[in-house]
Amino acid sequence: MKNTARLVLKNSFKPSCRSFSTCQMQQGIWAGVNYAPLDAIKQLTISFNQDTAPNKILLGEGVYRTNEGKPKTLPSVREAEKIIFEKGLDHEYPPVTGVVDFCKATQKFAFGENSDRIATVQSISGTGSLCLAACYIKKFLPADTKVYFPNPTWVNHFNIFRAQGFTDDRIPTYRYFDKKTNGMDVQGALEDIKNAPAKSVILLHACAHNPTGVDPTMDTWKKISDICKEKQHYVLFDSAYQAFASGDANTDAQSFRLFVKEGHQIMLCQSYAKNFGLYGQRIGAFNVVTENAEEKKNVESQLGIIIRTQYSNPPLHGARLVTTVLNTPELKAQWEKDVKELADRIKLMRAKLVEELKKVGSTRDWSHITNQIGMFAFSGLNEQQVTKLKEEYHIYMTKDGRISISGLNTNNVATVAKAMHEVTKN
Ligand code: LMR
Repeated sequence: MKNTARLVLKNSFKPSCRSFSTCQMQQGIWAGVNYAPLDAIKQLTISFNQDTAPNKILLGEGVYRTNEGKPKTLPSVREAEKIIFEKGLDHEYPPVTGVVDFCKATQKFAFGENSDRIATVQSISGTGSLCLAACYIKKFLPADTKVYFPNPTWVNHFNIFRAQGFTDDRIPTYRYFDKKTNGMDVQGALEDIKNAPAKSVILLHACAHNPTGVDPTMDTWKKISDICKEKQHYVLFDSAYQAFASGDANTDAQSFRLFVKEGHQIMLCQSYAKNFGLYGQRIGAFNVVTENAEEKKNVESQLGIIIRTQYSNPPLHGARLVTTVLNTPELKAQWEKDVKELADRIKLMRAKLVEELKKVGSTRDWSHITNQIGMFAFSGLNEQQVTKLKEEYHIYMTKDGRISISGLNTNNVATVAKAMHEVTKN
C-alpha cells in the first residue's frame, strides 16, 4: 500500500536538499498522491493521439466532425462573433448567476417561453450544470436521497455526484437498455422507477440518450411522468442535444416540456456544446421549475451562493454568442439550418454504415443503428470485438461498443464497416 500524504510529509521532507535536481530522486511531500487516469472516454482520446498508425479512426468522444474529419464552427456562430466583436464590449464581471439576457434566452429556448417561476442560472456547460444540480440536491434534499441514473449512462454522471460526496449506495441505476433488442427496456425502467424509494431523484436524458441513442417514445415518457408523480420523485433532466438529435429544437424538448405540463417541478441541465458547436466555450444553464416567483427568487439566490463559492462568476463569451444567435431573428434562422445540417449528416452516416455492412456481407441485423438517434450508436459490439478493432484496425470506440457517429465520413465508413464485419462474422 502507498504511504499516506501525512506519512510522506513526516518521513521524507529533507531540508538538506538544496536544489531541485538533487531532490528529484527522493520522495517529495506529494508522494502520497497517486496517478489517476481520466474516465474511459477521455482516456480513449489520449490512446488515439498516441497511436502513430496513419489510418487510425476515432469513434470515441462525442464531438462533431465534418465529412472531411474537421471540427465545425457554425456559420450562425461565426456571424455572432463578428457582431460581438464590432460592439467592442467590455470584460466586466457578469452577475454571479449569469448574463441576464442569456438566462432569459436559454430559458425560452428550453421551455418555449419565459416564466416567472423558473429559476435559471448560467453554468459551465452541461458538466457544470450537473455539478450545480449535485450541489443543490445535496444541500436541499434529505441526506439519504438517492439519485437514480439509467443503466447505462454517461460515465461522468457518476463521477460528478461522487465528487459532491454521494456514496455509491446513493447513486443507483434503473434498467434502461435491453441488450436483446438493442432498444429500451421499457418494462424494466418503469418497474425500477416505481420501486425506487418515494422522493428519489430520477435522472433522465432529455433526448439522444448517451451512450445508447435509444429514447423513450412520447407514450413511454408519459408513463414515466405518471410514475414519478405517483412516487413524488424529483426529476432531473440532462439536455445536452436539444436540436442536435432530430434537427429541431422543439421536437427535442418534448420530453421535459411534457413533464412541466404534467405539473412536475423539474430540474433541467442544458449544454450548448453540441447544438451550437461551442465545445470549448463551456456554456450551459441550470434551471429549476418552482411553484411561484418567490420560490424562483429563493432558489436562484441559493444557486448564486453555490456558484460564488465555486467559481464566482461564469465566463462571458459563450453566453454572448448563444444570446446573440437566439435573439437575432436572421441568425436564429441560420442556426436552425446549421444544426439541422449536423443532425442530417449523422443520420446519413448511420444509414451509410448499415449499407456498407450489408455490402461487405454482414448478415447480422444492424437496424438498431438507424433506429437510434443522436451523436452515438450503441453497436452491440462486445469488449473483445472493440479491443480487436483497436489493436488490429486502429479503430477506436469505447469498450461498451458505443460509436461516435460523427467520426464517420464518406472516406472511412467502408473501412469501418469492413472491420466491424471482420470482428463480428463468427
Ligand atoms: C461524450 O460522451 O463523449 C461527450 O459527451 C464528451 C464528453 O465530455 O464525455
